[in-house]
Amino acid sequence: NLTGLDLRAEIDRLRKERNAVILAHYYQKPEIQDLADFVGDSLDLSRKAQATDADVIAFCGVRFMAETAKILSPEKIVVLPDMAAGCSLEDSCPPDQFAEFRAQHPDHIALTYINCSTEVKALSDIIVTSSSAEQILAQIDPAQKIIFGPDRNLGGYLARKTGRDMLLWPGVCIVHEAFSETELLKLRAQHPDAPIAAHPECPAVILDHADYVGSTRGILEFAQTVPGDTLIVATEPHIIHQMQKAMPGKTFIGAPGADGNCNCNICPYMALNTMEKLYLALRDLTPRVEIEEGLRLQAKKSLDAMLTLAS
Ligand code: 13P
Ligand code: SF4
Repeated sequence: NLTGLDLRAEIDRLRKERNAVILAHYYQKPEIQDLADFVGDSLDLSRKAQATDADVIAFCGVRFMAETAKILSPEKIVVLPDMAAGCSLEDSCPPDQFAEFRAQHPDHIALTYINCSTEVKALSDIIVTSSSAEQILAQIDPAQKIIFGPDRNLGGYLARKTGRDMLLWPGVCIVHEAFSETELLKLRAQHPDAPIAAHPECPAVILDHADYVGSTRGILEFAQTVPGDTLIVATEPHIIHQMQKAMPGKTFIGAPGADGNCNCNICPYMALNTMEKLYLALRDLTPRVEIEEGLRLQAKKSLDAMLTLAS
């Protein structure tokens, strides 16, 4: 029974005792973002996990992110407050089906979004994040045929932007799929001068209206540089916490779903992590991410390729 415990103070105590670093994604609850040692996008979090000299990484994000941390830092204990924090993109790409798809296209390399299982990383050639995908794609020989998975929206966006024809795996993020073009246009009619920033996991009908498309970090940087006092944000709305902290005088509006508000765009997997579960994870050092060594080494190759090719 945790009632009466000062969770923030307990987490701080345990973080010191365990020599732990708390890493959090921008989609985490504000109270978790506020206590984290580092808040970032998928690429920055991978780099932090690789570079840390802490003994324990408490990863406040989803499972594929915590697994990435373990792949890159195998000697650390990596805990994820709730092991059920999955991802619809990961679920859309079962490794056996992905292996079959690859076998059907032996002359293609697999460029794969980091939002996938460790098994799918092990079946891939190069991993990308939304902040590194374009830069990595530009370094691949134009004659090289490419399979891109599992996010067909990010893949489609990259194909339109770069003119590269890629074979797309048909996965989607349920959160970004839920934005409504009709409701977005209604909102823009009320705020005609407000720019729209969108994550490339959004479908093309949403991206077509965006003034800026980029990763969570990219969207945050755009928010800081764009003129005007209002910004419409088409990604998971918890990122708005960082914007409000950095720019208290500006208004940030989460892009709406079909019901006209942004609450249906909260990631249900990210939301599983709570202060209580983070406290227990630091106290008990469980649930722990463990990866079989052969699989880890295989998955590490495609992640290392990303870290080498991304600036
Ligand atoms: P980035 O933080 O890399 O933009 O990724 C967003 C995301 O969907 C995480 O699930
Ligand atoms: Fe996965 Fe989408 Fe949630 Fe990101 S927001 S973790 S892509 S379900």
